[in-house]
Amino acid sequence: MVEPIDRLESNARNYARQFPTVFKSALGSRMTDEEGREYIDFFSGAGSVNYGHNYPQVNQALVSYIQSNGIQSSLDMTTSAKIEFLKKFEQTILSPRNLDYRVQFTGPTGSNAVEAAIKLARKQTGRSHIAAFTGACHGHSLGSLALTSNQSYHSEFYGSHNNVTHLPYEGYWGDRDTSELLEKMLDDNGSGLPKPAAVILETIQAAGGVNVASTKWLRRVAEACQKRDIRLIVDEAQVGCGRSGQFFSFEQAGIKPDIVCLSKSIGGGLPMSLNLIRRELDTWKPGEHGGTFRGNNLAFVAGSAVLDHWINPSFELEILQRGTRVKAALDEIAHEHPDFASTVRGRGLIWALDVHNNLVAKEIIDLAFQRGLLISAVGSRQEVLRCMPALNIPSELLQQGLEILKHCVSDVFEFRRCASRSEIGPSLPASNVCPTRANSVANPATPMTSPLSNDTSNSASPLASTY
Ligand SMILES: Cc1ncc(COP(=O)(O)O)c(C=O)c1O
Repeated sequence: MVEPIDRLESNARNYARQFPTVFKSALGSRMTDEEGREYIDFFSGAGSVNYGHNYPQVNQALVSYIQSNGIQSSLDMTTSAKIEFLKKFEQTILSPRNLDYRVQFTGPTGSNAVEAAIKLARKQTGRSHIAAFTGACHGHSLGSLALTSNQSYHSEFYGSHNNVTHLPYEGYWGDRDTSELLEKMLDDNGSGLPKPAAVILETIQAAGGVNVASTKWLRRVAEACQKRDIRLIVDEAQVGCGRSGQFFSFEQAGIKPDIVCLSKSIGGGLPMSLNLIRRELDTWKPGEHGGTFRGNNLAFVAGSAVLDHWINPSFELEILQRGTRVKAALDEIAHEHPDFASTVRGRGLIWALDVHNNLVAKEIIDLAFQRGLLISAVGSRQEVLRCMPALNIPSELLQQGLEILKHCVSDVFEFRRCASRSEIGPSLPASNVCPTRANSVANPATPMTSPLSNDTSNSASPLASTY
């Protein structure tokens, strides 16, 4: 029982349950709890601290801004911090990529940006329908939730699917080309799909299980939208800001979306979101889309400081090199345990080991936590382990984290083999069941869940690994 959390904080809390400790401080890729235990962070605040915790240049810039009595909250008034951010964003990100976008600051969450994007598309086209994809995660506010596909979050009470159709993402239906299906449905009067105002997609579905769309698929979807006067919205909340290896995850495909939603790390670790809108599509009237916290000046300051990474010409290469090491480590794990048929996928510095079983994933996450590694599960049943270290994680720490992960997976797989041979009961203490597992568990009182069950749900466990 943690006071006052268990008594006062809503039952909706999630990661507090997955990582049951009291975190106190963090620096770079390490988090430390109140007991002084250190954890290597392969979670990165679901992509909101891509440059690590308390990045020194961010802290220095924030301290000096606060000490100079810099403006903190200002709705969308003009401030020096905003001008500085916009200039730097244009110089380091937009101009080098030849991108001509207007910047709309929305409320500070990814959901806020998504809401604004679909609203603009609806206003411009005079159509209300939106096409999203299977495996999509665009947030939890009611409008963005309607686009999020995981049924765990939906209820008819929310009217949650209003005006949204989910179509199959690439790979959802084996090798079939689902972009072709999209075109067919758009052109077929009898498909039942109303002509949408927009198609919204993630180029890499992070929370959906690290599903990576190909260049071919993305280009075909982009062309399909362009030909039919349908807005293409690319939601970069999680895999933008360098996570894919380039600043924008759509760069590789050579497409130019009509609207791009950026969030999480765009604020250098502080809450900020924005939409990039193709200049000719910026048809908002003054004040038409509001929000009190569109002017988080501290995030402008922090966001400007982290943009310096993108001045370094070798930064992208360094991200890709780190990603290659993560992929190699996951490939090795998968090859060492062919009987578990786990699969590896990802791009840039977001990689996944799909263990095809939510219980196995949970056991690995719990064991990794006990051994000082933070990692989370994604996918429609939380059956996919997602590795998302900071883009600038030092080499030795990355290696250390990968070693922990490797041993945790091996030990859980070994426990599973052992358990399936001895047909153990539904919930046994670790020390009773498998020598390898028992020796490796830091807290032997932690019960292992039955390998025979396939459902982790109970009142105490989180509904899902939200992001
Ligand atoms: C692609 C994507 N869009 C939107 C969101 C929602 O962002 P927020 O939780 O800040 O509302 C998320 C959250 O992880 C996301 O991954």
